[in-house]
Amino acid sequence: MTKKAIKVGIIGFGTVGAGTAKILLKKRNELEMKSGFPIVLKKIADLDIKRDRGIKLPANMLTGNAKEVLNDPDIDIIVELIGGIHPAKEIIIEALKNGKHVVTANKALLAEEGRQIFTEAEKNKVDIGFEASVAGSIPIIKIVRESLIGNNINNIYGIINGTANYILTKMTEEGVDFDTVLKEAQALGYAEADPTFDIEGIDSAHKLTILASLAYGIPFSFKKVYTEGITRITPLDIQFASEFGYKIKLLAIAKRTGKDIELRVHPTMLPEDDLISGVSGVFNAIFVEGDATGDALYYGRGAGEMPTGSAVVSDIVDIARNMITGACVRIKGINVDGNPDVKIKKMEDIKTSYYLRFSAIDKPGVMSRISGILGSHNISIKSMIQKGRKKEKAVPVVMMTHEAREKDMMQALKEIDRLSMVSDRTMYLRVEGEEV
Ligand code: HSE
Repeated sequence: MTKKAIKVGIIGFGTVGAGTAKILLKKRNELEMKSGFPIVLKKIADLDIKRDRGIKLPANMLTGNAKEVLNDPDIDIIVELIGGIHPAKEIIIEALKNGKHVVTANKALLAEEGRQIFTEAEKNKVDIGFEASVAGSIPIIKIVRESLIGNNINNIYGIINGTANYILTKMTEEGVDFDTVLKEAQALGYAEADPTFDIEGIDSAHKLTILASLAYGIPFSFKKVYTEGITRITPLDIQFASEFGYKIKLLAIAKRTGKDIELRVHPTMLPEDDLISGVSGVFNAIFVEGDATGDALYYGRGAGEMPTGSAVVSDIVDIARNMITGACVRIKGINVDGNPDVKIKKMEDIKTSYYLRFSAIDKPGVMSRISGILGSHNISIKSMIQKGRKKEKAVPVVMMTHEAREKDMMQALKEIDRLSMVSDRTMYLRVEGEEV
C-alpha cells in the first residue's frame, strides 16, 4: 500500500525559506523514517527566482507566482515566510479559507493581527504552526503551550532579539558606542539595513506578545506592551553597571504581579551572576518560572537559516502527524477571547529598582537638591558614586535606588531635569533580578 504523502508549498524563499527547503529536500528519507510517512516539498514561490540560495531545486519547483502555490489543490500545508503584515496576511487568510494548514515564522503578523488569523483557522478547522516565530532553535512555543500546560506561569522573560544582544555584547566587550557597533553589525549582515524593529525593541515586543498569550491565556496584547529600545545606552552606562556588579541586556518581561500581568520590553540591568547575563552575541535565552516546575532556562540560537528552518520543519511534521491520524486542531492555537480576569498592568504602576545617571554640576548642595526631589516622591537611594571632580562643571553622578513606582520615578526625573545644575537628561535603567 502506498503511504499518503503530505505535500508542502513554501511562499517566501529568503533565509528561512532556504533553510526549510534544505532540510525538507536533503533529509526527506530521515523525515519519512522518523515520522512514518513521506513529506514532499512540492512548490516554492518567490518574486526573485534567480538568486542562488545554495540549494539545487528540482525542475519547475520554483515559481514567481504565489497563487500557483496557494491554489494548488495538491498542497496540504502552506508555509508563509515572506514576513511583514501585507501581503502575508492576505496570503495566510486565503490559504486558511482554501482549507490548507499554515506554518509561519511571522511574529509581527501574529502579534498585531493574530486574532483574525486564528479565528479564521478555527472556522476552517485547520492548524497554524508558529514555532519559528519566537527564538528560532528554542522550541519555546511547544514548551509553553504543551510541556508546561500543568503550570501557572508566574514569570517568563529573557533575551529574544539576537541583533540587540549582539550589539550590547560588543559594546560591553569592546567599550565602543552604539552607532559604531550598529554599523559594524550591518556590514557583517547581523543587523538589517533598516534595524528599527530590532534596536527599538519592537521585534522583542512582538515575540513577547505571542509568549504571553500562550503563558497566560490572554488575547494578543501587542499594543499594551511597554516598549523601549537600546539606542540610549552608552559605554559609560555599561561601565558603571559593571562597577555596581550588573550587565545591561534588552529583556522582554512578562510577570504576574497579583492578578495583573506586566508586559514590558526595555534595556535592563541584571546582576552579573544571573544566568541571562551570561548570554552573549546573537544567542537567545528564555527563563520560565512555573508554579509546578520552578525555574527553568532555555537557551539557543534565536535566528538564522538552519535554526529557524528547523523550527519550521518541526511544525510541518506536527501538522502532518495530525493529518495522518485525523487529529487536526488537536491543540488550540491561541485563546483569541482570552481570560477576562487578567489585566495588563499600566507601566506607570509597575515597581522596580532603578539605576540613575545624572549630569550634575560639581558644586556643594547639588546632591541634596536631587536626593530631596527623589525623597519627596518616595524614592529611596541605595548607593551612589561620583566619578571625577570638575569644579562647577558637569560630572556623572550615578545612583542605585530601592524599589520605586514608575510613575513616581518619571515625575521625579522630570523635576530633576529642570534644575539649572543638571546639564543633560538623566539616564535611567530599570533593574531586575536578585539584589547585588
Ligand atoms: N531579527 C531577529 C533577531 C531574528 O535579531 O533576533 C528574527 O526573529
